[in-house]
Amino acid sequence: MKTHKQLTIGLFGFGVVGEGLYKVLQQTPSLKASIKRICIKNGGKKRNAPVSLFTTEKDELLNDPGINVIVEVIDDADAAFEIVKTALLNGKEVVSASKKMIAEHLPALLELQLQTGRSLLYEAAACASIPVIRNLEEYYDNDLLHSMKAVINGSTNFILTKMFEEGLEFKQALILAQQLGFAESNPKLDIEGFDAANKWILLLAHAYGIITSPSSILFNGIQDIHAHDARVAKANNQQVKLVAQAQKMKNGKVAAFVLPQFVHATDHLAFVKNEYNGVVIESGFADKQFFYGKGAGSFPTASAVLSDIAALRYRYKYEYKKRYHHTPHEAGDDFYLRVYISFDELKYVPRDRFEWIEEWHSSEGRKSLSGVISFHELKTQNWWRENNLSLILAPGPVIEEISTRKLKRKSLELAGVF
Ligand code: HSE
Repeated sequence: MKTHKQLTIGLFGFGVVGEGLYKVLQQTPSLKASIKRICIKNGGKKRNAPVSLFTTEKDELLNDPGINVIVEVIDDADAAFEIVKTALLNGKEVVSASKKMIAEHLPALLELQLQTGRSLLYEAAACASIPVIRNLEEYYDNDLLHSMKAVINGSTNFILTKMFEEGLEFKQALILAQQLGFAESNPKLDIEGFDAANKWILLLAHAYGIITSPSSILFNGIQDIHAHDARVAKANNQQVKLVAQAQKMKNGKVAAFVLPQFVHATDHLAFVKNEYNGVVIESGFADKQFFYGKGAGSFPTASAVLSDIAALRYRYKYEYKKRYHHTPHEAGDDFYLRVYISFDELKYVPRDRFEWIEEWHSSEGRKSLSGVISFHELKTQNWWRENNLSLILAPGPVIEEISTRKLKRKSLELAGVF
């Protein structure tokens, strides 16, 4: 019988996730993993653990030969990178939940894993309790992963649910998300889509071998969504959600982005409420599969950290199979999206930037239109982020090809734009 590695942990961070992990480990003695030391930023705070465990000196953990696992759950991405880098270089295995840090430093972290031969596991960094990274890494070890569509930020999903189904104001819903420990310490990261984009970077690496950065993908958050948009959604038996999407195209590249999207009541993602996350994977032969679970919060996130710690007992490592064992995919910009835009004043919508406009609603208050626009236009221009415009993607796959400019002109005429 193979012996399990004895795990002695140095923990960085004792916030929502760190404290959750401390409690969860106490309830799982069978794991035989113990926390030797906990490094925190603020030594003066009262904590729910013995004082002797705590230090503010990171080297007491990083240079302790008796500690063979570093668990890092802090929210300062720069400090987290230094900790993870030093830990790997010092021969320790690492578990991290810092999605921002990992998304921003992915190439360097891949290199460090190759160089040191140590494991860096981060299941908690995307979709918290849902074991999606390990599934993408291990199960879909083939070329048949057609598309992924996901709700991957618990706070925004919680806020949208509370606002549009329970009638709370945006601010009230956000405060509740903060009190429940779902939101980032800077909630702008949730609201404006940064957190979802960071997580999407991680999933794209394990699903398709795409190594990209948050600054290279198109994303937006829920900050511009208007009550009018929610009414339009309801009238069409839909909801508005912040959805991350990736789709393999005929040209071999992958369309990938994070945008608010109309989700039909019959879609799996419509089932995903509050702080829950959901990932719908479409693959050859298996058709659709739906992963669902809590995407934020103390214990759900700690459960994923715990699972990574357990995986270290049998020396589990990510192999980045899609990157190293297959021909990796690239992200592509050559496609079109069907979008809805609501606005107060027509003059802020450059209608000639659309390939064509399909519907047009003009009333006293908020106005809207639906049309087809190139992804490149959205990626390179900012008009749709300004002047109180709200852009929401229509359900369905991306459009890979459209016909000639003549069609564009004609449909604009039909829409009464010229
Ligand atoms: N702020 C994050 C969210 C926490 O709301 O999804 C979990 O990563």
